[in-house]
Amino acid sequence: MQIIQFLAVCALAVGFGLPTLASTVLVERIDVRDLEMIDSVAEKYRGTPIDILISNAAIVADLTDPTPQVFGSLDYPLFAVFMETNVRGPLKIAEAFHDHVKMSEMNRIIMISSLSGSLGTGPTRLGGRVYYKTSKAALNMAMVTVARATAEDGIIVASLHPGGVKVEKLANFNVPGFMPPAESVGGMVDVIASLTPDQSGLFLDWKGRIQPW
Ligand SMILES: NC(=O)c1ccc[n+]([C@@H]2O[C@H](COP(=O)([O-])OP(=O)(O)OC[C@H]3O[C@@H](n4cnc5c(N)ncnc54)[C@H](OP(=O)(O)O)[C@@H]3O)[C@@H](O)[C@H]2O)c1
Repeated sequence: MQIIQFLAVCALAVGFGLPTLASTVLVERIDVRDLEMIDSVAEKYRGTPIDILISNAAIVADLTDPTPQVFGSLDYPLFAVFMETNVRGPLKIAEAFHDHVKMSEMNRIIMISSLSGSLGTGPTRLGGRVYYKTSKAALNMAMVTVARATAEDGIIVASLHPGGVKVEKLANFNVPGFMPPAESVGGMVDVIASLTPDQSGLFLDWKGRIQPW
């Protein structure tokens, strides 16, 4: 059984239960803005079944200064960086590794999204950061479309909101209610393990609760 997850947060996943799901965890570091690099890693693993493909990479940008992504002071070149990292990259990863997931037993593609991209939710702590929020909304739409396109292959696609997680970069920020990474990752491991084909295309949180688009 193979899991491939991109980026550093994979270390958390390894520590909190994914080995109970998988006998082999593959970790590859990829710049998700680099389409050729994604193709190259996909080629490296051609013929290798991947049970659970997790795309976690995203940028929020400077947590102390939202100005470049707040309406009225928008830095337009930065918009492309957000969309390439938070939407195009995950979409390309899903497409590049589609065959690997299709030939596996569990057939899961998991996109780490955010409730910040939900149109049906009020303002979140991330306030007016239009680029981050727009990119996560777009990621969700992309994943719904991928879910429909891959349903015949038996692939289960899900967008997961990990909850408010006090990750390393938030160590110096006061974020009431944010949980330790172990709690979020542990929840997501359970959700990923229990997904069924009829849930493909859903936007769920770390407890498996359906989130508003
Ligand atoms: N923490 C929360 O409360 C929270 C809430 C909702 C959703 N999320 C989502 O959870 C996921 C993880 O976020 P996090 O809080 O753990 O933030 P994080 O610590 O900043 O992790 C983001 C990761 O993405 C990587 N990354 C950024 N640009 C990349 C690129 N071009 N190519 C490859 N990797 C790239 C970063 O790598 P480097 O460190 O090397 O730059 C980092 O490992 C994200 O999708 C985020 O939107 C987090």
